[in-house]
Amino acid sequence: MKVLITGAAGFIGSHLCERLLADGCTVIGIDNFDDFYDPQIKRRNISGCLKNKNFQLIEADIRDSTAMDEAVGDGVEIIVHLAARAGVRPSIAQPLLYADVNINGTMVLLQAAAKHKVAKFIFGSSSSVYGNNEKVPFSEDDNVDFPISPYAATKKAGELICHTYHHLYEIAITCLRFFTVYGPRQRPDLAIHKFAKLIEQGKPIPVYGDGTMMRDFTYIDDIIDGTVAAINRVTSDESRIQYLQSRRIKADNGQ
Ligand SMILES: NC(=O)c1ccc[n+]([C@@H]2O[C@H](COP(=O)([O-])OP(=O)(O)OC[C@H]3O[C@@H](n4cnc5c(N)ncnc54)[C@H](O)[C@@H]3O)[C@@H](O)[C@H]2O)c1
Repeated sequence: MKVLITGAAGFIGSHLCERLLADGCTVIGIDNFDDFYDPQIKRRNISGCLKNKNFQLIEADIRDSTAMDEAVGDGVEIIVHLAARAGVRPSIAQPLLYADVNINGTMVLLQAAAKHKVAKFIFGSSSSVYGNNEKVPFSEDDNVDFPISPYAATKKAGELICHTYHHLYEIAITCLRFFTVYGPRQRPDLAIHKFAKLIEQGKPIPVYGDGTMMRDFTYIDDIIDGTVAAINRVTSDESRIQYLQSRRIKADNGQ
């Protein structure tokens, strides 16, 4: 199975590449090594995968429609779209950049997916779409019409565009709303990474608020298990073959 992973050199993307390669998949990784945090960290993240003959890294921007068209057209069956400008607070400082990468970039990939009849598209969304939801635990059915940051709004927009492409082109799409992910290679802007660094340096950890704040965190291995489960939901061998065949028949009939 050939899987294209965007954001492949990032925290979650690099773990997913490793898992899928270990599972015997052929993986195309896309990343532009942007400067949201030190690109050298990303080069380290992906260095192990580069030794695997079933892995190909394409250094490109997801907004580059020619590059994405070429990459997806190379027999890709599944796309896992993780590339994004991440982070809630920085999105308030650079909302246009977040909109460009997270919304336009997602559309470029969905266009390529539709053109090349990709069977399945998995979108890395975020728990931030729940906004100031006070009902816990959150549920997929909760109203997510009130995002409170540009980042959250771009993720909600991404989910909506995914629905449109599912409706128009019958691409099987799953949007995964990750809750802050932690574990090895965690993004340096996230709290647990910062806390661990301060502890290592023997420095105090600043606590905001009165210390009663609660938040859900998910360990990276669980995120990868969930993402692989989302891939397999349509791609258990038999259903995948049936699914691909039905899409081909429809395409042949010009539908
Ligand atoms: N880590 C979390 O806690 C968390 C929580 C919720 C949602 N998410 C989402 O999961 C996805 C992965 O998050 P992460 O923590 O691994 O982030 P990350 O920043 O480590 O990885 C994202 C990768 O995408 C690449 N990228 C950014 N813009 C690009 C572009 N225009 N073209 C090509 N590549 C580009 C970056 O270089 C980076 O390697 C993101 O979509 C993020 O919004 C993450």
